[in-house]
Amino acid sequence: MRAPITALFALVGFAVCSLAALHRRDDNLPARVPYVFPEPGADPVADEIRVRRINNTLLDLDGVLLNSDALAEAWNNVAVLIRDNNPIPGDMRELFILRSAVLNGAAYQWYEIQHEPVGRSAGLTTAQLRTIRFAPPFVGLVNATSPAATAFKSTLTPQLSAALDLADWSTAAVHVPDNVYNNIAVHLNDTEIVFAVSTVGFYNWVSRFVVGLDIDSKMRVAVPIPQ
Ligand SMILES: *[C@@H]1O[C@H](CO)[C@@H](O)[C@H](O)[C@H]1NC(C)=O
Ligand SMILES: *[C@@H]1O[C@H](CO)[C@@H](O)[C@H](O)[C@H]1NC(C)=O
Ligand SMILES: *[C@@H]1O[C@H](CO)[C@@H](O)[C@H](O)[C@H]1NC(C)=O
Repeated sequence: MRAPITALFALVGFAVCSLAALHRRDDNLPARVPYVFPEPGADPVADEIRVRRINNTLLDLDGVLLNSDALAEAWNNVAVLIRDNNPIPGDMRELFILRSAVLNGAAYQWYEIQHEPVGRSAGLTTAQLRTIRFAPPFVGLVNATSPAATAFKSTLTPQLSAALDLADWSTAAVHVPDNVYNNIAVHLNDTEIVFAVSTVGFYNWVSRFVVGLDIDSKMRVAVPIPQ
């Protein structure tokens, strides 16, 4: 009696897994550590993360985080603030997220967690996305004078040009020169500037996490080109 019942459970388990795989956005390729995907109802932290995800489906990013419930919970709390309760304009938030993905070569961050479509719905145009993707690091858009830099700058508002300069310095140099800081600070109040610098910083953590642990085997994949 026991064997057929076990077989039945195995079969049901398999069907549930394939269904879950079908609804997953990731390619579901390996990372450097195993993925931990608790069943719905089995882990309150995983369930909290599900609430934020499209179709309540955990991502490979979540599966890596859930190797530590404590880390996954702390990360999720910060992500809720930065993603969903951030006072800076949505297009600026997504520029920070996408630009740090580009500078860090984090393809997973650009598309698996859907930031290109989120950026578009926050108002970023294809021309702006291409500037975020192709402008050389430290191009200095606010005071751009070279023809190439001026062409990139022409796609962005003054606020977004200043944001791109901040993202470059904070991500790739850590040290943010006074003029770069002042150029963005004139557009934001103190609460917003604290969120702006935190957004760049948090998504640098995301990049280092998804690349360092090769989440969804995307470590060597090029950041997509916006069409
Ligand atoms: C969410 O689920 C619907 C219905 O199964 C599916 O059509 C859609 O592609 C899913 N969305 C994502 C982003 O996986
Ligand atoms: C800063 O701007 C936000 C809106 O982005 C607003 O909610 C907040 O009250 C402002 N803070 C200050 C200190 O003016
Ligand atoms: C841009 O030019 C303004 C005005 O000359 C100057 O105050 C600012 O420091 C410059 N910013 C950068 C990033 O060079």
